[in-house]
Parts: sequence; C-alpha cells; structure tokens
Amino acid sequence: MCGIIGATGSEPVLPVLLEGLARLEYRGYDSAGVALLADDGVWRRRRAGGNKSVAELTEAVGDAPPATTGIGHSRWATHGAPTEPNAHPHTDATGRLALAHNGIIENYRELARTLPQGGDEVTSDTDTEVLAHLVAARMHHGLGLADAVRAALAEVQGKFALAVVHADEPGLIVGARRGSPLIAGQADGTGLLASDIPAIHGRADQFFVIDNDRVVEVRPGSVRITDLSGREVELVGREVGWDLEAAEKGGYPDFMLKEIHEQPAAVRDTLLGRIVAGRLVLDQMRLSDDDVRQVDKVFVVATGSSYHAGMVGRLSIEHFAQLPTELEIASEFRYRDPVLDSSSLVVAISQSGETLDTMEAVAHTKAMSKARVLAVTIVVDSSLGRDADATLYTRAGPEVAVASTKCHVAQLVAMHVLALYLAQVRGKYYPEEVAHQLACLQRLPDRVQAAIDTAPAVTEVARRVEGARDFFFIGRGVGNAMALEGALKLKEISYLRAEGYPAGELKHGPIALIEPGVVVVAIATRSRLRDKLLANMQEVKARGAVVVALVDDEDADDAHVRALSDHVLSVPDAGHELFQPVVDVVPLQLFAYALAIARGNDVDRPRNLAKTVTVE
Ligand code: AGP
Repeated sequence: MCGIIGATGSEPVLPVLLEGLARLEYRGYDSAGVALLADDGVWRRRRAGGNKSVAELTEAVGDAPPATTGIGHSRWATHGAPTEPNAHPHTDATGRLALAHNGIIENYRELARTLPQGGDEVTSDTDTEVLAHLVAARMHHGLGLADAVRAALAEVQGKFALAVVHADEPGLIVGARRGSPLIAGQADGTGLLASDIPAIHGRADQFFVIDNDRVVEVRPGSVRITDLSGREVELVGREVGWDLEAAEKGGYPDFMLKEIHEQPAAVRDTLLGRIVAGRLVLDQMRLSDDDVRQVDKVFVVATGSSYHAGMVGRLSIEHFAQLPTELEIASEFRYRDPVLDSSSLVVAISQSGETLDTMEAVAHTKAMSKARVLAVTIVVDSSLGRDADATLYTRAGPEVAVASTKCHVAQLVAMHVLALYLAQVRGKYYPEEVAHQLACLQRLPDRVQAAIDTAPAVTEVARRVEGARDFFFIGRGVGNAMALEGALKLKEISYLRAEGYPAGELKHGPIALIEPGVVVVAIATRSRLRDKLLANMQEVKARGAVVVALVDDEDADDAHVRALSDHVLSVPDAGHELFQPVVDVVPLQLFAYALAIARGNDVDRPRNLAKTVTVE
C-alpha cells in the first residue's frame, strides 16, 4: 500500500507534501519521508515512528531548503522492516535522484544484479531502492528523466505507482502506474501527483486518473501522460467532488467515533433516489434488465469487513432473488478455478475500490470468462469502479479510520439493494413484497441511530469485561457474519484475541477453549435460529464464560435471556432478520471502540494495518 505525494510549483512545496502525507496516512504509516530538489542535489528526511511517523517527520524538517519541487511517501512495510533506512523516498548513489514507490517489485533481486555495481549500490532491504538505481543508470546513458523511467519500467515485473525527481531536471516529477493507484492534479501553476484524491483535495481544481502502464510528467503548468513507449495519451480531466469538511473530525475525538455516528446518514444516502414508488431504480448501475435476467449464478468476492458484508449479501441474494450464490475471500478466489461463464455475475465489494486482492479476483474473472463484474464501492473513479462492467456506489462519504464502520454499514445496505433489485427485475418477488422490504430499509436510519444511542450501556459493559483477554463472538445465519465482524473490529483496534464463530460449530472443537473468564458475545437478536442460539449460550455459560447477549429491545428483560447472560445489550428490530446486521453491528463497533480506548490505543491508526491494502 503506501501513500505518494509530489508537488512542483513556484513556492516552497514542503507544506503541501506534509499536508498530503497526513491525509494519506490511511494508506500506511509505519514510516514517512520527503525528498526536495535543492541546489546541490536531493535534500531528504525520513522518520520511522510507528503510527506517529508523519508527526515526527513534520517536527524534523525545520532546516529544509525552500525547494519548489519535491516528493513524499508514507509507508506500510512489505519488504524490509519499518526502519528509517527502509523508508522512502530512496535515492540513487549520487544523491541527485529520489524515488517513492507503492506496490511490490517482484523481480527486484534480478534487477539488482544488472546494476553497474552488481547490486552493491543497494543499501536498504526494500524492493524499491533498486528502481532508483535503475532509473539513474538509464540517465547515465544519456536519457532524460521521463525516458529513463520508461526504459527502466520495461524491465520491471510487479505492481507500482511511482514518483521520481532528479536534481538535473528541476520542476519535473515523473510518475508511473501499474496496478497501484495514482492521480495527477493541477492548480494555479502547481503540478501535483498523489496516490489518492484526499491528498490533494482543496489544492487541485482538476485531477487526472493515471491508467496502468502510463507515465506522467507533472510540471508547474502542465500534465503530460504517455504510454511506456513514449506515445502521448489524451488527458481527460475530472472535477474533485468531495467536501473536505467531510474528511475532518467535526468535534469528535477521533475519526472512528465520528464515522460510527455518521452511519444513519450513510444508510440514508445509500438508498437516496434509488427507491421510486416502491421500486428500485438503479439507472447508474450500467446493467440492463436483460443482463440481469440472464444471470444464473452469483459469485461474491471481497476481503475483511467487505467480505462480512458479502456474507450477508449472499444470504439476501439467495433469499430474495433465489439465485445460487457463492462467496469467496478475494485472495482465495483468484487462485481457484471457479466455474464461471457469461451468465455468471461476479460481485466485487470494496470500500476503497483499490484492494489488490479484490482487483486481482476481478482480473481473474475477466481472464477466464465473459462473466459480468459488478463493483460495490464508494470511490467513483477507483480502479475497481473502472474495471467493472457495472457499479453500485455506496454513499458513505470518505472513511478515514482504518477500522471500517460506516462504509461497512453502507455495503450491507447496498447488498440488500442489489438482492432486491435482482428479485424485482427477475420477477422472483411480488412487487408489493419488494415495496414492503424497501420500506423496511428506509426505516433503518432511525434504528441505526437508536443503536448508536446505546453507547453508554455498551461502554459500561466494556468496562466490566476490561480485564478479559479472550473473546468469542457467536451467531447463526446473518448473525454469524456479525460475529465475524465484531471479532474483527475488536482484534484490529484493541489487539485482544477475538474469534468469530458460527454458534452451532462451537461444539465441534472451539468450545474446548471456553473456561471461566472467557467473554462470549452472542448475537441473539430475533431470527428463526434464536432458540438454537440461546441453547449455544447455555453451553458456554455452563463452562464459565462471561456471556454478553445482544438481543432485540423486546427481549431485553426476558427472564430466560437474563438467566443465560451476564450482560444484556439491546437494539431495535430491523424489520426483517436479513436486515438485522445493519443495526446489530453498531453495538459491536462501539464495544470494540470502548475496549480500545480503555487500553489507550490509537483507534484511527491501529498498529500493523493500513486503510487500503494494495499489496497481495
Ligand atoms: C475493516 O475494518 C478492515 N480495516 C479491513 O478488513 C477492510 O475491510 C478490508 O481491507 C477491505 O477493504 P476494502 O473494502 O477497501 O476492499
């Protein structure tokens, strides 16, 4: 993953680079660095400071020259530990060229052996540094910077987004892309290059998406894009559409809490304008009714929280649209031989639209079949959005915290919208039934708000179990998906051991781990399987577990539930058991949040993680 920022203009660019790095931290933050073109070569500063790298870097650049061209990088380590020598930008042996990279250079060892000193010039453990030497070697043979980058890339295998500067060509940043995202922008005589829009938002009036195997030359007044052979490619500019306010904390102590509170709006906005007179109208999806009617099998692919939304989506598609539906982790799907054909629909869910595993699952689909690909994503112009045949946009606004909350809830809603749309077009459900379910979806924002309002009760329960080290989350049906999501949230921000499990599967092994002090969070909101779930709660209670039950408001005082539980949390009924995760997930997020805060963790930037995972 990693974030790249570059700027070239007539004023000192360091503030632009530091601001861009702070905004790109969601892509990785275990080290950060800047390189500026000074009179005598590259001036560089790097810091490896865990999740405070950009802050430490900002403190350490007081002596920087007033350079008008520079690049910056925030890193999520893949090759080489997160140390200062491995931090980007990397330089060549002369110290006149600097390069920042996002992605993985697969043949870096072979490339190193082709360098003038057989690879001895490489001083870091990264796969990246070899590129700096490779480009410099091409310049040594008389090429200009852009030509040297093009020539070097002809030998590179792997994925990359690059930014390169050289002191011999001040006022130029050369970027290149294969697989990892990159955009260029222009504003008032300043040329910009970045991994993503938030880095340059508020500075660029217009941006240009760089496609795969393109090289971009950014100068103070111009952007030029070529293919790898140097042939010029037409520039298509796009307006920057996001409200920067939306990307700031707005009075909350951190982004995660702010984003949890934005969930009613995320649900409302994801439905906005799509329900007209009790019917779904998804004109922007680019999938005709004939395409939909032709579908005879659905495959859902995703990772992490998006995968959990896919678990719910699968059950919803099977139930409402009555279509056989497979679900697979994206990084597994791409190495399988799924039986796909032109009647298959592959639904790829990714909030960022840049997750490499999911992109590769889509590429695998396209390589082996004529199956249609539908992306469920938030980012218009993301790589996934552009590669897919059809797109259903979730409308949650930019999510900054690494732990997904509002984007996940928007994905859940979008998957129900998709399931009901497939049912509507394929005539699998009476129109009034579809209208009834859509009306239920439209009532969800208020119920999500009511679930958010349980925060004090959730925080109190979290306080009571604060000393525990082992957590199980159990559920059945869609509750199983929420069990996995609750466990994932807890793991990623609190660093506590948490397992999500189908409740019925516990007795086949994991119940051996249940002993006094283990906390079991049971998703016991009303469903066909609630009684069976209560029986599973009994099994863990009998073995000494501390049971936290999540139930419907109507069951909050139920004597049987109370007898089986040490703590009871309750949420409103969602109107249909398949929709219940949209509400149930909220107290699970708040529970993880409260435990993480109690442990003094940085909830927005948990250790070892990155918001967007653009490596395999
Ligand atoms: C969620 O809290 C995680 N940070 C992570 O699992 C995330 O959902 C996953 O990496 C998928 O990201 P995507 O939706 O951008 O593809």
